[in-house]
Amino acid sequence: MASLTRTFATLALCCLLLGSTNGQLSTNYYSYSCPNLFTTVKDVVASAIAKEARMGASLLRLFFHDCFVNGCDGSILLDDTPTFTGEKTAKPNNNSVRGFEVVDQIKSAVEKACPGVVSCADILAIAARDSVVILKGPTWDVKLGRRDSKTASLQNANNDIPPPTSSLSNLTSKYAAKGLSAKDMVALSGAHTIGQARCTNFRDHIYNDTNIEASFARSSLQSVCPKLTGSGDNNLAPLDTHTPTTFDNYYFKNLISKRGLLHSDQELFNGGSTDSQVKSYSSSSTAFFADFTSAMIKMGDISPLTGSNGEIRKNCRKIN
Ligand code: HEM
Ligand SMILES: *[C@@H]1O[C@H](CO)[C@@H](O)[C@H](O)[C@H]1NC(C)=O
Ligand SMILES: *[C@@H]1O[C@H](CO)[C@@H](O)[C@H](O)[C@H]1NC(C)=O
Ligand SMILES: *[C@@H]1O[C@H](CO)[C@@H](O)[C@H](O)[C@H]1NC(C)=O
Repeated sequence: MASLTRTFATLALCCLLLGSTNGQLSTNYYSYSCPNLFTTVKDVVASAIAKEARMGASLLRLFFHDCFVNGCDGSILLDDTPTFTGEKTAKPNNNSVRGFEVVDQIKSAVEKACPGVVSCADILAIAARDSVVILKGPTWDVKLGRRDSKTASLQNANNDIPPPTSSLSNLTSKYAAKGLSAKDMVALSGAHTIGQARCTNFRDHIYNDTNIEASFARSSLQSVCPKLTGSGDNNLAPLDTHTPTTFDNYYFKNLISKRGLLHSDQELFNGGSTDSQVKSYSSSSTAFFADFTSAMIKMGDISPLTGSNGEIRKNCRKIN
């Protein structure tokens, strides 16, 4: 019996090693090395969201901005130093991405439970899933085994993360460059069912675009976002005007009633090839949830560092 157990353990270890040298991620990656990982992460995420519901949105977005820049490798978490330029001041990130203190809290809880084992890149993947679940969205099995980068790229962050001024074809091509389809793109955009955006990112849409419901633009948005550039640039409005802290399909219902907040949001329902998919999600949260979860898993697969590449950072903000 003992030898059987040992054989089994050796076999499991062998598959684990094989998996990591193959560059494959797996859902049970830490089941021996950090058995309490999932509850450890979820507890910290849950208490952060209990304090501020928006934090769930911020953590979900961090994973997106990590994965789109050189793959899901924790690069977005690295702080700038006098001799190192990270991604935090890139245009889509500066004064915008948040949640780094919560990631620090998760990392220190995880280091306490299993020192030196779990990457920051994997912590982002788990925290994104937990955030969606806690805000009443769908769940999925998170693939793990990513390692952390020793580099970051300000330039790739500026080039690869789509800006809110994007057209439908701009969006499609930025996702295609990451191996994601237009269908994945629409499903993933449903993440904008939670969280907030700054005036500077929706000003043009509410003053200059015509594909926005007039009273929504005027009474809800122009009152928080002054016309003049430089005034109220950081004022916030919810991406989903209806249920900003619940992960549901109202984002898509809003698009159909021309209540998208960003120019890029409304591009998904503007008489083009993605209209039918938006319609389908607006009438079926089941369809949205199924496609969202599979697209999240695909996004999480973007060029991970595995094997002997990268490292397991001790502190998510700096290279060891
Ligand atoms: C389709 C292309 C996308 C564009 C152009 C885009 C753009 C933006 C912009 C401009 C903001 C507001 C930032 C600010 O004003 O500071 C934002 C917020 C957000 N984005 Fe996206 N995004 C896209 C896709 C995604 C994806 C794929 C996800 C996650 C799967 C995501 C999750 C979020 C969340 C949750 C927020 C709110 C964050 C918070 O409240 O802290 N976005 N996005
Ligand atoms: C980032 O934002 C700060 C203001 O908080 C600003 O001083 C700085 O110039 C910005 N950096 C970049 C690269 O845009
Ligand atoms: C969208 O694509 C067009 C055509 O390739 C390009 O000129 C434009 O700069 C792009 N816009 C954005 C916001 O990426
Ligand atoms: C609206 O568009 C005009 C003409 O392109 C431009 O001059 C103006 O700055 C824009 N205003 C806003 C608030 O985006």
